[in-house]
Amino acid sequence: MRKKIVVGNWKMHKSFQEGIDLVNDIISLENIKPSEEVLKIIAPPFTNIAAIANQLKSSSDFAVAAQNCHHESSGAFTGEVSSSMIASCGANYVIIGHSERRHYFGEKNELLAKKINSVLKEKLIPIYCVGEKLEERNSDNHFKIVKQQLEQALFHLLLPEIKNIIIAYEPVWAIGTGITATITQAQEMHAYIRSEINNKYSNKVATELPILYGGSCNASNAKELFACSDIDGGLIGGASLKAEDFITIINSF
Ligand code: PGA
Repeated sequence: MRKKIVVGNWKMHKSFQEGIDLVNDIISLENIKPSEEVLKIIAPPFTNIAAIANQLKSSSDFAVAAQNCHHESSGAFTGEVSSSMIASCGANYVIIGHSERRHYFGEKNELLAKKINSVLKEKLIPIYCVGEKLEERNSDNHFKIVKQQLEQALFHLLLPEIKNIIIAYEPVWAIGTGITATITQAQEMHAYIRSEINNKYSNKVATELPILYGGSCNASNAKELFACSDIDGGLIGGASLKAEDFITIINSF
């Protein structure tokens, strides 16, 4: 059985205290599915990682992720944060290649491959994002683009490494737009990603690798999306900023 996973990507939201308050709101809600059933991850801005990791220490039920990292472990890179620093703050996961990083910061697959290496080197788990833009889907290039994103950033990994990866399929046109991929579109791409993993590695790796859906996934549509055979959970943006909605999504399995 593959792990069920829900990740809350806060993006550049919440002051330090607002972040602490949101986590308190989340963990104070009742009837949250336990970690044996759903792995729950919160990805706050860097400024909150250490404090939230500390806050969650007593509740082993939630883990913490960073939203990005630099690919070097240290050096003269003003303004950057490395995987080793993230690890030292108590996070266990790092989101890599989010479409906003690709779009606003020009991050290309080749750079993302290095970032993934740096995350693995620190024994953290990368949550690697793939997904096509609207024009790429409209021109029927969505499979080609996603395949490239897999090949160029992920497929250099060896068998023991690929087993420690989570993939998130996030069609760019669905992120923050309120337009969710249809169940058919989402399931079809997830199955495609799994088949590419199977071709490159093995059926066992493909069967065990968690693939999350992201892009306007919310409290109303999560159940339907999570019911798809190849969708193992969600990478949630906007809806993860409201405690009740986030918990409703977590409980949607
Ligand atoms: P959204 O963002 O849920 O607000 O669409 C998802 C994401 O960017 O990870």
